[in-house]
Amino acid sequence: MKYMGSKARFAKDLLPIILKDRQPGQAYVEPFAGGMNMIDKVDGIRIANDQHEELMAMWHALIYENWDPPKSVSEAEYRAIKYNQEDYPKHLVAYVGFNSFGGKWFAGYRRDKQGKRDYWSEHYRNITKQVPHLEGVQLSCQSYLNLEIPKNSIIYCDPPYAATTKYRDGFNHEQFWDWCRQQSKAGHHVFISEYKAPEDFTCIWEKGAKTTFSWHAENLAPKESVERLFVYR
Ligand SMILES: C[S@@+](CC[C@H](N)C(=O)[O-])C[C@H]1O[C@@H](n2cnc3c(N)ncnc32)[C@H](O)[C@@H]1O
Repeated sequence: MKYMGSKARFAKDLLPIILKDRQPGQAYVEPFAGGMNMIDKVDGIRIANDQHEELMAMWHALIYENWDPPKSVSEAEYRAIKYNQEDYPKHLVAYVGFNSFGGKWFAGYRRDKQGKRDYWSEHYRNITKQVPHLEGVQLSCQSYLNLEIPKNSIIYCDPPYAATTKYRDGFNHEQFWDWCRQQSKAGHHVFISEYKAPEDFTCIWEKGAKTTFSWHAENLAPKESVERLFVYR
């Protein structure tokens, strides 16, 4: 699924590192699962959490309720849903809301002036292709802070990045790094995607990437950034 801050293009670099020492029966946990672009490539016991209610309702409907999403949505329908979200089922609101520029929540109806691309077919294909790979994933919708994690898990964190200046969800980054320290000390194997980290974290992988979008920033020009993976000490 096209999703803001998706890790789809890094999954083949990151997952071999994250899963390298995974033991049989060891759980793989994503507290910030978003578009499920990493966890759909992992097998075994998996827990996908995200605090976005509509998004998790959508994944639930797709994976466990056999929901077949619409193959196309008109601009009028898009607007009706955008401005009257409470009148529509949450899973539909998410499906429509995320088919916007940059995979960003209701950021505008995507239409191709040359008629070469059908964004709704692409959205439908992308999402329905993921669904068979998500069967059996345990879904959870709450703050990562309240997430119950099985003993000795592998935890992959892809939180909202701190690098940009515009904040919209008040994510507390210091509290997040503290939580990572605690989870690591409790015996979990914690991996974090970020651009930078406090000094007691070590970078174990990095790769330059062009981003046109960042989780918090609005309308920033494309810029070079370095994707990194960190572990505690
Ligand atoms: C960068 S995105 C994850 C993208 C995902 N890895 C992918 O490849 O599709 C960050 C996610 O964190 C979620 N989020 C933000 N604050 C959160 C919190 N306190 N607890 C749980 N999830 C949160 C957002 O809803 C968003 O889906």
